[in-house]
Amino acid sequence: MLTVRAPATSANLGSGFDVFGVALERPADVVRVEKAEQTRITVTGAGKQYIPEDPEKNTAGAVARALDAPAHIRIDKGVRPASGLGSSAASAAGAALAVNELYDRGRSREELVPVAAEGEAVVAGDAHRDNVAPALLGGFTVATPDGVTRVDADIPVVVCLPDLVVSTRDARAVVPEGLRVSELVETVGNAATLTTGMHRDDPELVGRGMTDSVVTPARAQLIDGYDDVREAALDAGAAGVTISGAGPGVIAVCDERNQRAVAATMIDAFDRHGVEASAYQTSTGEGARFLGN
Ligand code: HSE
Repeated sequence: MLTVRAPATSANLGSGFDVFGVALERPADVVRVEKAEQTRITVTGAGKQYIPEDPEKNTAGAVARALDAPAHIRIDKGVRPASGLGSSAASAAGAALAVNELYDRGRSREELVPVAAEGEAVVAGDAHRDNVAPALLGGFTVATPDGVTRVDADIPVVVCLPDLVVSTRDARAVVPEGLRVSELVETVGNAATLTTGMHRDDPELVGRGMTDSVVTPARAQLIDGYDDVREAALDAGAAGVTISGAGPGVIAVCDERNQRAVAATMIDAFDRHGVEASAYQTSTGEGARFLGN
C-alpha cells in the first residue's frame, strides 16, 4: 500500500484566470492505493456523499485508467468538494502520484500534470491544469497550453469557506466572453506584479497583483456577501483578496501577524449576510508527497 498526501490549491488568484495556482499547506486529501484486479474507489471524509465511487465517474478512477494501473484507491477527503480549493484536483493529483509509483510507470511530476487534469475533467467538465499543477508540483505555478512553470513561494494565506454551493459550471457560465484592451493591459500588469511578488515572497506585491476587474466581479454575484467580505479583509490588513478558483471560497493574502484578524473578520462579514463560514489560516506550500507505505 502507498499513501500520498495531496494539498488543496487555489487557482486564478484574480489576474491569472485559468493559469495561476498555488498549493496550500492545508487542508489536504490523503490517498491510499494498492494493486487490484479492477479499480475500486472508496471515499471517506469531507463531503464524501457528493463524490461518486464509481471508477468511471471518479477523478482517481480516470487517472488509474489513463495509467493502465488498476488499484483499490481509498480517498480520505480533507478538501471539501465544490469549495474552490481544488478538491477534485487534489484527489486526481494524489492518485496520479500514487499509482504511478505503485506500478513503476516512471512518469515525472510534470508528466503527471496532464494525466491528473484528464482525471479532473471527469467531474469538472474541462481539463484545467491550474489546480492539478500546484497540487503535484507545489509552490506557485503558471500553467499554459505550452507547459507549466513553478516557483517556490512562501506567502501567508487565509481561505474563508462559506457554507454556500457554487458549481464550477455556473461560475464559468458568467465569465465574460471578451474584454477591452484597457482591461487586458490592467490584467497583464497585475499578473506580472503577482508573479514578481511570488518570486520575492512579498505578500504586498502578490496582493496588489490579485486585482481583477474582468472575471472576479462577474463571479462575485454568485457569492452572497463577497464584496463585504473582501472589504472587511482589506480593512483588517489583507494585501489582496479574491475568489479562490471558481468559488465560493475566498482567499486573502496578508502578513502572518494579520492572519488571525483577517480570518475572524471574513467569518463575521459572511455572518452579517446570514452565511455560515469557516477559515483556514495557512500558507502556500509543497505539492503532493508520500507519507510512507
Ligand atoms: N480556473 C478554473 C475556474 C478553476 O476558475 O473556473 C476551476 O477548475
